[in-house]
Amino acid sequence: MNKHSVPRCDDLPDRTPTGALVENVDLVIVRFGDAVSAFYGRCLHRGVMLSDGLNGHNLICGVHNWGYRVDTGISAYVNDEKLPKFNAWIEGGDVLVDTDEIKQWKQENPQPYDRKGYLGQYADLMVPTKNPARLHHHALGRVIIRLLGPSEKLTNRQLN
Ligand code: FES
Repeated sequence: MNKHSVPRCDDLPDRTPTGALVENVDLVIVRFGDAVSAFYGRCLHRGVMLSDGLNGHNLICGVHNWGYRVDTGISAYVNDEKLPKFNAWIEGGDVLVDTDEIKQWKQENPQPYDRKGYLGQYADLMVPTKNPARLHHHALGRVIIRLLGPSEKLTNRQLN
């Protein structure tokens, strides 16, 4: 076991999804009362970041409203669908996960997102693009990224 601190408990508002990147795997961390869950951070439908979603009794994807229970990760509508869940616990105010467990999971589930590439972590890898207008749009985006760099650099340039 290799403990790794993700956001402190005090920084996790109750039932509010928070993203964390551990071993290049997107996680979504949810505190509910005195308990905490750490799940794979991408929706099982189209890979949207669940840290951008909403929460209540369920963790709700912000795009098409798929919902997952905050304690188990099981879909509220299709019980066969279940977000991968990682061990997470609170110790001295820190929320901890086990990087060895996450590394092992990543070996079996390689992550395809090129964070510095076109669309980066928001790339939709599940839809082949055949529409000529979308192909043109994506090609233009790739050229802009190549010329100007990824969006973090753009943001830094705009701030400086
Ligand atoms: S991508 Fe999450 S519900 Fe569609």
